Amino acid sequence: MIKELILKNRSYRRFHEDEPVDIDLLQELVDLARNSASGGNKQSLKYILCNSREMNKQIFPTTAWAGYLKDWPGPDEGERPAAYIIILGDHEISKNFYCDHGIAAQSILLGATELGLGGCIIGSIQREKLREVLSIEEQFEILLVLALGQPKEKVVLEEAKDGDIRYWRDDDRIHHVPKRPLEEIIIRKVE
Ligand SMILES: Cc1cc2nc3c(=O)[nH]c(=O)nc-3n(C[C@H](O)[C@H](O)[C@H](O)COP(=O)(O)O)c2cc1C
Repeated sequence: MIKELILKNRSYRRFHEDEPVDIDLLQELVDLARNSASGGNKQSLKYILCNSREMNKQIFPTTAWAGYLKDWPGPDEGERPAAYIIILGDHEISKNFYCDHGIAAQSILLGATELGLGGCIIGSIQREKLREVLSIEEQFEILLVLALGQPKEKVVLEEAKDGDIRYWRDDDRIHHVPKRPLEEIIIRKVE
């Protein structure tokens, strides 16, 4: 059921870092993105896959985590992602990537969720630092980083009250994510 999968596909920010994610599995996930919609069918996205502990150590500091959790700087060592997929836009193919990277990210994360993994889309990236770390050529724009692994936290959805959409953590470190109710987001039904 697609609804079940979407509800399960939360943004996870704490992982069992020691549980490796196979590189072939990452490639399977990119194959889902490859078969997804693309503006003008340009297919200008390219990917870097990483499950190397050494490189993960260098990628992690280029990412920023959970801006609303002011007293939490991000996952501790041991709870960091076991793998990353970096989504790049190839300027030699297109100057405009439309919303292709969002679609690709969702395809990859739904695929990961189906396999019992979890992840987080990271848009807050120190791009020049990451470019250096992974020796990314200038023709590629760094669009998104997907952090992946075996989730080590519980995430629950709530109904947003009074428009407050800031996620929060309770004393048991359960992560709560408020979602605006349907009545608020559908502004008109034309029948
Ligand atoms: C385009 C985009 C960029 C995001 N960037 C970050 C980020 O830099 N750091 C982070 O911790 N979460 C990031 N997220 C995750 C969102 O915070 C998350 O989707 C939101 O809190 C709702 O939680 P949910 O995904 O479980 O529904 C991003 C999500 C999207 C779609």
